[in-house]
Amino acid sequence: MRYPAYGLLQTDGSRVSEFTYEGYRIFPGKKRLKALPAVYVEDEGEAETLEIFLRDSVINTRLILSYTIFRDFPVICRNALFSHEGEEPVVLENAMSLSIDLPDSDYDMVTLTGAWARERYIKIHPLHEGVQTVYSMRGHSSHQFNPFFALKRHEATEHTGEVIGFSLIYSGNFIGQVNVDTFAVARAMLGIHPEGFAWTLRKGERFQTPEAVLVFSQDGLNGMSQIFHSLYRKRLARGKWRDLERPVVINSWEAVFMDFTEDKILKIAETAKDLGVEMMVLDDGWFGKRNDDTSSLGDWYPNPDKLPGGIKGLSQKIEKLGMKFGLWIEPEMISKNSGLFRKHPEWLIRVPYREMCHGRNQYVLDFSKDEVVEGIGDAIISVLKDAGVSYIKWDMNRSISEAFSQNRGPEAQGMLFHKYVLGVYRLYERLLEEFPDILFESCASGGARFDPGMMYYAPQCWTSDNTDAIERLRIQYGTSVVYPLSSMGCHVSEAPNQQTFRNTPLKTRADVAYFGCFGYEMDLNALTEDERQEVKEQIRFYKKYRKLIAEGTFYRLISPFEGDEAAWMVVSEDRKTVLAAYYRMRQPSNAPYKRLRLKGLEENARYCMEGKTESWFGDELMNAGMVISDYASGIRSDTTKQGDYQSRIFILKKL
Ligand code: DGJ
Repeated sequence: MRYPAYGLLQTDGSRVSEFTYEGYRIFPGKKRLKALPAVYVEDEGEAETLEIFLRDSVINTRLILSYTIFRDFPVICRNALFSHEGEEPVVLENAMSLSIDLPDSDYDMVTLTGAWARERYIKIHPLHEGVQTVYSMRGHSSHQFNPFFALKRHEATEHTGEVIGFSLIYSGNFIGQVNVDTFAVARAMLGIHPEGFAWTLRKGERFQTPEAVLVFSQDGLNGMSQIFHSLYRKRLARGKWRDLERPVVINSWEAVFMDFTEDKILKIAETAKDLGVEMMVLDDGWFGKRNDDTSSLGDWYPNPDKLPGGIKGLSQKIEKLGMKFGLWIEPEMISKNSGLFRKHPEWLIRVPYREMCHGRNQYVLDFSKDEVVEGIGDAIISVLKDAGVSYIKWDMNRSISEAFSQNRGPEAQGMLFHKYVLGVYRLYERLLEEFPDILFESCASGGARFDPGMMYYAPQCWTSDNTDAIERLRIQYGTSVVYPLSSMGCHVSEAPNQQTFRNTPLKTRADVAYFGCFGYEMDLNALTEDERQEVKEQIRFYKKYRKLIAEGTFYRLISPFEGDEAAWMVVSEDRKTVLAAYYRMRQPSNAPYKRLRLKGLEENARYCMEGKTESWFGDELMNAGMVISDYASGIRSDTTKQGDYQSRIFILKKL
């Protein structure tokens, strides 16, 4: 009589089932999920798994509920595996990854919602009777809602109180909901969205749900985030790049869009190299006849007019400069005006006898079909093979509409969305196997697929197309609720900003972008000599602190959603080094005395601020706070620090 955790349609039309207990098993470690991303362990001592076996003996379907707990993280990972052994087929119409009844409903629900250019804003609402939901039915996890929610006690803050976090390791349609009944029981559920989902199981077939992760914190939202950060950074992200320092990149997009020649790219690269940048990334526009967004997706061969020596020719020249080379791809898409469309019109997701909608003039390839995933994989591999590509930005610039898998019959339609995601994961896996040294960055019109599923394949993700420093404060602050700084692509772009037309100081732009995977996205040749020197210094600074930023403990201190200022900090694991940042969006007038209270320091240790001779005890900095009045309240001693959009970074060292 409430929303169920699963639904099985049987051949006679009945949806009634009864799974009863058959047994259990506890074993050390954790199994990998088949074809799905999941948290992993490196040795068996890190975790313990409980499997509960259930069976519906009428239809002869088995259900295994799997729960893993960890030595080092206050986390439960949960998934469900249906395996059908009956003669008659059944249709799984709903299969949640997690369903839990909490005995009371005295919680606020915390969600991350938004749209293009304003992804993952923090929203907090008290639970009420009825259903409250976050979801995506767009084929990707979406700009609109992130596959996450938290339940926090009303009195819980960023730093104190009970919080339970729910996160789904999945990149497609999902639903997260809390159903509060009239007896104040709160049922929390998370899994694949049942809308349009119908998975047929014949004898001997199985269906495994994606993995859901539950985090418990008694230290408020920051406590929850820190657990997600270390779990996802250390035991979800994989491969060589998981632990390596990420390169400082220059990305061509906001500098030249699709209007470039090899020469133009090389000129940017030369300047970038001189400033200390380590990787030149060539974004959209290098393939087929692509000079605007109306053509060529699907035609994965370099445009000889722009790149006479192909990708290899350009990458060799970049490497000669002493930099690495990175490339943009969008493998899931197709343009009507492309060789691929003319050859394979049946590769598109569409109803062939109906009008089809485009998004940014493009259409989605049917990745639920093996031959499409294979064909696109072959094309991408032939571009990358021996081409000297060290980084890939994998983009996805539209949602799925008119979901229909051509020539596949009715049964395939209910499997389309999930099989699509499995196809994406399979192609990622193939590319990772083929090119284990490539660093992958995921992207979807900015941050429409910033989810844990992607992190398993690509340790970093383009956070948002909005590169305005002031807007980024909210976007990065919200993103940090679940995702580590090591996963956020953050670039300095030009001012006025291309999305908001706002003018912010170069310093502020960098002070925001440092807290992620740092880079630039502008024509560096347009900088003045003073700005070049400033950029050089910024890059030197980032290189010095990038390990701390990626691996330290992150605290949100002042929320940009609540006023005209923001602050956050990172402290090293040994609590010896602190990087704290304060941002002022609007200059207050005649403001009061201001202190910033730090977190995570050693109470009885003395800390000294870089550039100052005084020192303070950790408990003083945490409880009384660090005086920042010269910035926050705007005294007139230094006019360069006055006005809106100012920022400051504080470096503290333990003595
Ligand atoms: C959307 C991405 O978010 C941008 O960074 C850029 O890569 C464009 N697509 C290119 O089309």
